[in-house]
Amino acid sequence: MTTATSLVADTEWRAHAAALAAIVAEVADPRWAEAFAVVPRHVFVPRFFRRDAAGDLVAIEGSDPAQRAQWLEEVYSDTALTTQLGQIDPGNTLRPLTISASSSTKPTLMARMLTDLNAHPGHRVLEIGTGTGYNAALLCHRLHDGHVHSVDIHPELVTVAHARLVSLGYHPRLSCLDGAHGWAEHALYDRIIVTCGISTIPYPWVAQTRPGGLILTEALAGGHGMLARLTVADDGTACGHFLDYPGLFMTLRQTPHRIARPAELPPEQLHGARHASTTLDPAVLADPAFAFFCQLHLGSGRSNHHVVEGATKATVVAHDGSWAQTTSGTHGVLVTFDGTHNPWQTVETAHHTWTQLGRPRPCAFGLTVTPHQQHAWYQHPTSDWTHPLT
Ligand SMILES: C[S@@+](CC[C@H](N)C(=O)[O-])C[C@H]1O[C@@H](n2cnc3c(N)ncnc32)[C@H](O)[C@@H]1O
Repeated sequence: MTTATSLVADTEWRAHAAALAAIVAEVADPRWAEAFAVVPRHVFVPRFFRRDAAGDLVAIEGSDPAQRAQWLEEVYSDTALTTQLGQIDPGNTLRPLTISASSSTKPTLMARMLTDLNAHPGHRVLEIGTGTGYNAALLCHRLHDGHVHSVDIHPELVTVAHARLVSLGYHPRLSCLDGAHGWAEHALYDRIIVTCGISTIPYPWVAQTRPGGLILTEALAGGHGMLARLTVADDGTACGHFLDYPGLFMTLRQTPHRIARPAELPPEQLHGARHASTTLDPAVLADPAFAFFCQLHLGSGRSNHHVVEGATKATVVAHDGSWAQTTSGTHGVLVTFDGTHNPWQTVETAHHTWTQLGRPRPCAFGLTVTPHQQHAWYQHPTSDWTHPLT
């Protein structure tokens, strides 16, 4: 195993870590900021990948003398760093796509999440998504390490993270598991923190959290999800508000080696597409608050937009693969669509509702999870406006 411990003198990394902790302190509880000053991130990120000017992913290695200074600088910057690559649809040789399969999360995001987790010494914590082990190390530093549990679906990540944690004197419980099932063996937990994205909340997380305990997770896939903090009740339900920041996490995968291709426009389906007009400006999707609300309606589908020659072009893909794309011209906005329905109508309906509600921000909404269903609500769990999560 590559270990970065010996690559950097104690005084050198401590100076870098102190500077990172000062950045983190602007958004986090000081007790968590202090953890960033004393837990060496470079031990968990001996190399990372970044895109070069040509768009290719290249490795930056701490062990390479020519890259060492850049590596150390970036490891202690407030940046998410890709640490493992994976292929989307490895069997699809026509359109292989290499993407990040694991990463060390942006430190200020980690710190906000740890603060919002509201975990204290004595709490038993389960982390879904061990990755590098850095977040587990921060948890071990502040809580009793025997109370920290962490799972990842990729066996090598777990083995390497375990060795790094032990090298620093931390002994949390780690396991290679599909985090969608939680880790029943050591339940109940006081806190569950999830560092990958999901469309709906797996019920085992609720069942494995003690009444009064918290689950902090990004909810809603499609790139427009937000963190949500749910409190588990005595009756086996969980309920809580969305927070006002996204995680932009990679989606929970079902096997270590297969990353599902995100919903996208399949070009071969362009033949036979139909057309409609719309009065809704596609630029509405540029507002993160509306994109979030729209995502509630799209479920595991997705929307995105980009600006072409001054006009916003939006693409929407429904959960069943039906798609719509907008084109702005002198005669207004044209919608091209194909599939079982026109998903742009979902965006129109969502926009109408969102406007009627007064254009609320994500934190005005919340989630309730029961063993049988889960739904979003507006302002309070018994409000008139609810929407099922699918
Ligand atoms: C953003 S990284 C986690 C970062 C990590 N907390 C750290 O401090 O380095 C997300 C991780 O989720 C893991 N993951 C994806 N699907 C999973 C699943 N079904 N169960 C458990 N872990 C999963 C990935 O392998 C990846 O390591």
